Amino acid sequence: MQEDFNYPKRKTNEKKREREKARVMEDESSENRKQARLTILELANMISVPMSLNAVVRLNVADAIWQGGANNPLSAIEILKRVLPAGNGDSENLQRVLRMLASYGVFNEHAPSGAGGERKYSLTDVGKTLVTDSEGLSFAPYVLQHHQDALMRAWPLVHEAVVDPSKEPFERANGEAAYSYYLKQGDMNELMVKAMSGVSVPFMRAMLQAYDGFRGVQRLVDVGGSGGDCLRMILQKHPNVKEGINFDLPQVVAKASQIPGVTHVGGDMFKSIPQGDAIFMKWVLTTWTDDEIKKIMQNCYNSLPEGGKLIACEPVLPENSDDSHRTRALLEGDIFVMTIYRAKGKHRTEEQFRQLAVSVGFPSFRAFHVDHFYTVLEFKK
Ligand SMILES: C[S@@+](CC[C@H](N)C(=O)[O-])C[C@H]1O[C@@H](n2cnc3c(N)ncnc32)[C@H](O)[C@@H]1O
Repeated sequence: MQEDFNYPKRKTNEKKREREKARVMEDESSENRKQARLTILELANMISVPMSLNAVVRLNVADAIWQGGANNPLSAIEILKRVLPAGNGDSENLQRVLRMLASYGVFNEHAPSGAGGERKYSLTDVGKTLVTDSEGLSFAPYVLQHHQDALMRAWPLVHEAVVDPSKEPFERANGEAAYSYYLKQGDMNELMVKAMSGVSVPFMRAMLQAYDGFRGVQRLVDVGGSGGDCLRMILQKHPNVKEGINFDLPQVVAKASQIPGVTHVGGDMFKSIPQGDAIFMKWVLTTWTDDEIKKIMQNCYNSLPEGGKLIACEPVLPENSDDSHRTRALLEGDIFVMTIYRAKGKHRTEEQFRQLAVSVGFPSFRAFHVDHFYTVLEFKK
């Protein structure tokens, strides 16, 4: 074996380089390093945000503050008396939760007036989305729906969607795909329907003001229509729609209430879809893979007359990434879909939706930006 005479010199150089690298990494007093340490700690602790939101929903804090529109600033002690009238509970811990959520814009924090005064909390516009309205709806069931035990069990397995996307983390954790799992648990199914109504009704109010694509439609099918709220609102706004077909899984429509002008039809959109002069769909395509979307779109295409429209409201990703509120909300929803519904189900860009639609025969496509989360995609046969 030949002796390496350069070995001591090489070793010294290596050590020098390591020291250089360490020196650069050690410059922890720079503003960049301080910000980086702060950000990674914030990200690592961020689970506190949705979990605290879930806590205030479970405790019904928003309704306790709102009190018929009063929205008077209340201390944690005052809120606690309203949410736990039996007199138990820890107001200091409630205040810790309220204070942290105030920094995320859910509550307004009112500084103590004078020595010995207490911090008080009222609802911001974000907090008001959790208040139960006259129809019994709010975004609160959506928060609860997302944090049920079965969904929470999937979250530590997000990396598995990278290692092997053939099975979504939800199925790995619970032994079954999400929709069939919900259907077997009556309370999960009920919460899902309530969560959908709470989110969809306010969106539909806004959408129906800005989008008039239902003109001339007489028979409208809502695919994956859940309890039928979207159809009910479309029929109220557009009397030309004489017949609404609310199409969803049999177990879902079996629980739906009667709605004038609406027929609930149970079935499987992967097999066939009832005929209509237009098909509406909200928050359905997103949860499926490209091949599954093609199957759903193909079935829509087959059920439409020449010139008929498929109107899909879906979260649509921007082409470029940035740190705006909108982009983050859409990207976070994308990871939710990957974890819970389909490892290869996803939020898509307009162009990706257009390509899927073209591949099943829809020649033309228009996008209407009527909301920050959902985009209305109109595909004409
Ligand atoms: C995210 S929810 C959207 C509900 C409603 N469109 C809304 O936005 O409020 C998706 C819906 O698709 C339904 N769904 C899932 N698989 C289905 C299938 N194979 N056939 C018909 N509907 C299905 C679910 O039961 C659920 O109601």
